[in-house]
Formats: sequence, C-alpha cells, structure tokens
Amino acid sequence: AGAALYDPDSDSWSVYTHDSVKRILADYEHFSSQMQEHPSEEEPIEGSILRRDPPKHKQMRSLVAKAFTAKVIEAMEPRIRIIAEELLDRAAGAGYLEVVGDLASPLPVIVIAELLGIPSEDRALFKGWSDDLVGKDYTRYLQCQKEMTDYFRIRIEERRVRPQDDLITALMQSCMADDNGLSELEVIGMCILLLVAGNETTTNLIASMIMCLESSPELYKELRLDHSLIPGTVEETLRFCSPVQIMERRVKADMNWNGHSMKEGQRVYTYIGASGHDEHVFVDPGKFDVRRSPNPHLAFGQGIHFCLGAMLARLEAKVALSAIVDRIDSLQRTGDEPLERLESDMMFGIKQLRLK
Ligand code: HEM
Repeated sequence: AGAALYDPDSDSWSVYTHDSVKRILADYEHFSSQMQEHPSEEEPIEGSILRRDPPKHKQMRSLVAKAFTAKVIEAMEPRIRIIAEELLDRAAGAGYLEVVGDLASPLPVIVIAELLGIPSEDRALFKGWSDDLVGKDYTRYLQCQKEMTDYFRIRIEERRVRPQDDLITALMQSCMADDNGLSELEVIGMCILLLVAGNETTTNLIASMIMCLESSPELYKELRLDHSLIPGTVEETLRFCSPVQIMERRVKADMNWNGHSMKEGQRVYTYIGASGHDEHVFVDPGKFDVRRSPNPHLAFGQGIHFCLGAMLARLEAKVALSAIVDRIDSLQRTGDEPLERLESDMMFGIKQLRLK
C-alpha cells in the first residue's frame, strides 16, 4: 500500500494509493511544503501558509484561523444564495445556462471579494487577477502578484486608520497585533492565497458536480425531491472529480520511506485524485454514489495544511446546487460534443458546460 514510483527524468516520486497520499500529506516532519528555500518578495504566495512548515506554519495558521472562523463563513450563507440567484437571473435571458462562465466561475470570486471587503467597483480588477494567477503566463503571474501586493498594501493602510467589518481588517488585527504576529507582506500573501487557492478549485467543484448530475437524470430527479442528498452530492463530487488532483512535497532529508531510498530535495507528487478511486477504501469507486458513507476522500488534503476554505467551498457548492435544483427541472446539454477538460494535470475541471 505504501508504493512510491520513482521517475529518473524529473528525479521525483509519485504516490497514488489512499494510504500513501494521506500519510505523506500529513507527514510534515519528513515532507516539506516549502518549495523554495527563501521565498522572494516578488512571490508572496511562496511565503504563504500553504508553503510553510512548522513552527512558522503553526503561528500563521492560528492567527489566520481567528479571522476565518465558522461563524464568519456560516453568516455568509444568505448572501451567497442571493449572489447565486442574481447570477442565474442574469443568465436566464440568454436561453441557455453556461454553468462555468455564468455561475461556477463568478460565484467564488464575488464571495471572497465581499468577504475580504473589496469594493464592488474593483470587482473586475479582482476577477482579472484571479484569472491571471491561475493562467499559464509566468511573467503575468509575477506582475499580477506585484499589482495585488500594491493594492492590498493600500487597503490595509485604510483599515489601520478606519477598521471595517471585513476579513482584511480581521486578518490585519489578528495577524499584526504584536511583535509575534505576521509582517504586512505575509498578510498580503494570505489575501492573495485566498484568491488563488479558493477560486478555481471551487469553480471546478461546482461545474464537475453539475456535469456528474447531467449524466445521472434519475439521481437529479431524486435530488429535486430530497434536498438532504445535497451535502452527499458535494462530497461525492470531491471524491469523484477531485478539483486538486496532485499536491507537491519536498523530501526534507535522505531517508528510507517504505523501502524506498528518498534523497533530500526530491519532489514527491501525491495523486489526490487517484486516491479517491482506490478500491481498497472506496467500494465500486467508478460509481458516482451520493449516499456513500463514510466518504474519506482527501480532496481538501490531510493534516496541518487541511484546506482552510473547506467549509466555505462546501457551502458555496451546496448553495449553488440548491439554487439550480430549485429552478431547473432536468439538466440537458445543448449539444452532444465532448466536454473539454482544462489543460492542467494539477487540477481537474471542465472548460464549459452549456445547459438548455
Ligand atoms: C489548502 C483544496 C477551496 C484556502 C488546501 C489543500 C487542498 C485544498 C488539497 C491542502 C494543500 C496541501 O496540503 O499542501 C481545496 C479545494 C477547494 C478549496 C478542492 C474547493 C473545492 C478553498 C477556498 C479557500 C481555500 C474557498 C479560501 C477562501 C486554502 C488555504 C490553504 C488551503 C488558505 C492552506 C492551508 C494551510 O496551509 O494551512 N486546499 N481548497 N481553499 N486552502 Fe483550499
């Protein structure tokens, strides 16, 4: 169960089983999340919580968790529903619903922008950054981090003078309160990370979920009658079409791991997507079964880096699905051309999904 495959071309290891993916993600003592030894100022994301090991990680996580609480997220539910309804209303005039562009993509961007406290007139700017951060142009990616750094620096300054009821203020207050807190750049890195980590992943979750339901008309009918199946549908989509397919780690020091001789600095790729289809853990893994219980998928990771936004992502997906089932009698695509997958090995998602 602990098999790791070595690839001499890239001098890296890959693991696919549920057991080994879970163990490696959780084992920060042997597998580091810090990909760069000294993250540069140009890339605040590289210095962010996602890419730090303890003790720095623990310090950041406890500060950030104070701002990003269950209470803050739960309070967003009615507002998320309104945003989803508005997006669906806007699309209604077109005669078809393009699930990705009309709903799944704008929803998480608007939600996180509102949570952070970004004024609505800056929404377009924000959406542009969010797209460029996951795009393929590295120069633009770096430039974008610089623009966002400048932008958030000003927003933080404003809140120092006049605190507001938003996440930027909460992050600033909890993270920069004393000498043991975070630097301004670290808080900015956190704000940027929330965009990078949360937007495309949630978009892909929502779109994949509708794709799975479109091919199960009977299940969709059941869901319309029984909304209690919605949370299980979200969980099963996370397992079946894990939005994050692969997570990376770096071997900290030469060691023997399960009979494999791993060397310091080598990359280890954990295939989260494959782990969700491991038949030793999931009975009949090729079946999309919304009643699967328990459903111990690893879509949000495992251990100290477990996704900070899991609760928000689940909430957005549930609200999006309930808005759809309340409006659409049956899901039917406008054509039968094959769906196109996003061009990424790291992520799973579809480019478009057009419904009648
Ligand atoms: C971490 C997946 C949505 C913020 C992670 C990790 C995974 C993940 C696998 C662990 C990375 C690792 O172990 O190295 C997802 C998926 C999402 C999603 C599949 C949507 C379906 C969100 C949202 C936010 C968010 C909406 C915030 C608004 C974060 C942050 C971390 C993280 C800050 C780093 C936590 C840490 O290092 O302690 N996510 N995520 N994610 N996620 Fe998410």
